[in-house]
Amino acid sequence: MGGLVVSFANQKGGVGKTTLAINLGSALAMSDFKVLIVDFDPQAHITVGLEVSPEDKGTIYHAILGERDIKEIIFPTKVENLFVVPANEDLAGFEVEFFDKSENQFILKKEIDKIRDRFDFIFIDCPPSIGIYTVNALCASDYVIIPVLADFFSLEGFSKFFKAVEEIREGLNPKLEILGIVINMYDKRAKLTREVEEEFLKYFPGKVFGVRVPKNVKIAEAPSFGLPVLLYKPSSPGSDAFSSLAEEFLERIKQYKEEKESASKN
Ligand SMILES: Nc1ncnc2c1ncn2[C@@H]1O[C@H](COP(=O)(O)OP(=O)(O)OP(=O)(O)O)[C@@H](O)[C@H]1O
Ligand SMILES: [Mg+2]
Repeated sequence: MGGLVVSFANQKGGVGKTTLAINLGSALAMSDFKVLIVDFDPQAHITVGLEVSPEDKGTIYHAILGERDIKEIIFPTKVENLFVVPANEDLAGFEVEFFDKSENQFILKKEIDKIRDRFDFIFIDCPPSIGIYTVNALCASDYVIIPVLADFFSLEGFSKFFKAVEEIREGLNPKLEILGIVINMYDKRAKLTREVEEEFLKYFPGKVFGVRVPKNVKIAEAPSFGLPVLLYKPSSPGSDAFSSLAEEFLERIKQYKEEKESASKN
């Protein structure tokens, strides 16, 4: 079956999808797991933030078009064990080229299945929408992690996104599970943060990761050096949070696997 595929998705922009994919991926890579991040956003923030330069070697879009073999466009990063399949703005053409093709929800899955057995984890970074990109990512995935901010608008849009994920699970990819919601840019001094946090915990019991990722400027600075915060500032609140998040991620994966196995026995 190969590695586990995990999407980072939320239709809301700027909530930390890319930041979590880079930093959780790096934390796992630094614990000796082999990790690939597939950049599936025409903004190409993974590619830029980890300083991958595909130049004319090709991107995920070329693989989808059949112009490149995805195995040939797996690039190393400054983090040992962390690899990237890059994107660039050409990926915007995917929506135009493929929107009326049949089975167009499974195009990314076909590519990812070719390299699953080479990695322990394959992460997919999605753009901020629930359009064809995110649908493709979720159809290729075992799990989805949903980063949120503890603000009013996050709560507003979230139920809609949660429902969309449920619909994809029911209609297109029955094995898809919400691994969890990660509260990002957490500020425990803010009253609104705590109120919104309470709401998430109440309405999505068991789904919210225990680790809160704090708002920390080192996290935001790290991509300009092509690094995750764990290498840019190893002792910082951000680095501590991502190390803890990696541990919780592995525990959750183990727990979900056990639940699935016991469910299939009964
Ligand atoms: N915990 C944090 N502390 C400080 N800055 C953060 C934190 N998380 C994210 N950021 C910054 O906030 C901005 C948005 O984060 P990011 O790009 O990861 O969100 P996104 O959900 O991927 O956005 P998009 O929807 O555009 O893809 C970035 O500039 C990032 O560096
Ligand atoms: Mg992003």
